[in-house]
Amino acid sequence: MSEFKKVKTAIFPVAGYGTRFLPATKSQPKEMLPIVDKPVIHYLVEEAVEAGIEKIIIITGRGKRAIEDYFDTSFELEHNLVERGKDHLLKQVIDIPNLAQFIYIRQPIPKGDGDAILQAAGVLNNEPVAVMFGDDLVVNEKSALTQLMELYEETGSSVIGLKEVSDEQLHNYGVVGGDVEDDRVNIKEFVEKPQSKEDAPSNLSVIGKYIVTPDILGELMAFVEYHDGNGEVRLADGFKSAISNNINVLGKVIEGKHYDTGNKLGWLQANIDFALDRDDLGEDLKRFLNSK
Ligand code: G1P
Repeated sequence: MSEFKKVKTAIFPVAGYGTRFLPATKSQPKEMLPIVDKPVIHYLVEEAVEAGIEKIIIITGRGKRAIEDYFDTSFELEHNLVERGKDHLLKQVIDIPNLAQFIYIRQPIPKGDGDAILQAAGVLNNEPVAVMFGDDLVVNEKSALTQLMELYEETGSSVIGLKEVSDEQLHNYGVVGGDVEDDRVNIKEFVEKPQSKEDAPSNLSVIGKYIVTPDILGELMAFVEYHDGNGEVRLADGFKSAISNNINVLGKVIEGKHYDTGNKLGWLQANIDFALDRDDLGEDLKRFLNSK
């Protein structure tokens, strides 16, 4: 049994505009884009639940109503499926609202993921939380968040999920440096979106999965106060200031196959791989791809 407070809550900041997928995201949240037939956010909720999360706080905003409806009961749809004897489809939708307890908080202006996370501060009980951005899917026997959770439970420190990327990709990510031991990093440096390879402390990039302890939230709040509420607030700012104040922040290189579904190529790759793995689609899709 870990001596540290259990992580039971996850925050999903989803208020961004999803500009990389326009026009598809003009009138629907990017988190609702499907991988085969299930929205990306559903996979992330399953990942959170598997890691022991019971409460999911979704920081939402204008144009994101589809997410609330998705995790709610759809009475008319269920009634219609019962009437038509579509039991297999009914089974797929009926339990979605029971996956976790869902709480929605609106972020009035999308002023960055750090600002989004701070919107939840009022309903947190000075507890550690998982933070999951809506883009990164990892396929592995032990889920990505479970891997982070294990390191948190051992150490009580904040943990950032990491993956190694090529020099050309570094500018898209937060990049960390520090003492590396196997798959763990004692983080001493955090550079958000380095302009060039020379500015990056390593090739270990931040994927959008974190365990955030209350002291990091405190650093974020101090950051906001210091900047008088002006400009964007990023979770990266909280980590950077925590590191400069000698607060322990660990990194864990995540095992598994990664898909960055926030960019078009990653989203397509996830769709193809997930479909190839399906009994009802795999063989036909393989034949189609081989014919190209
Ligand atoms: C955010 C973080 C960045 C991280 C990335 C992962 O950036 O600020 O550190 O590497 O998510 O997806 P965004 O992609 O939201 O600009």
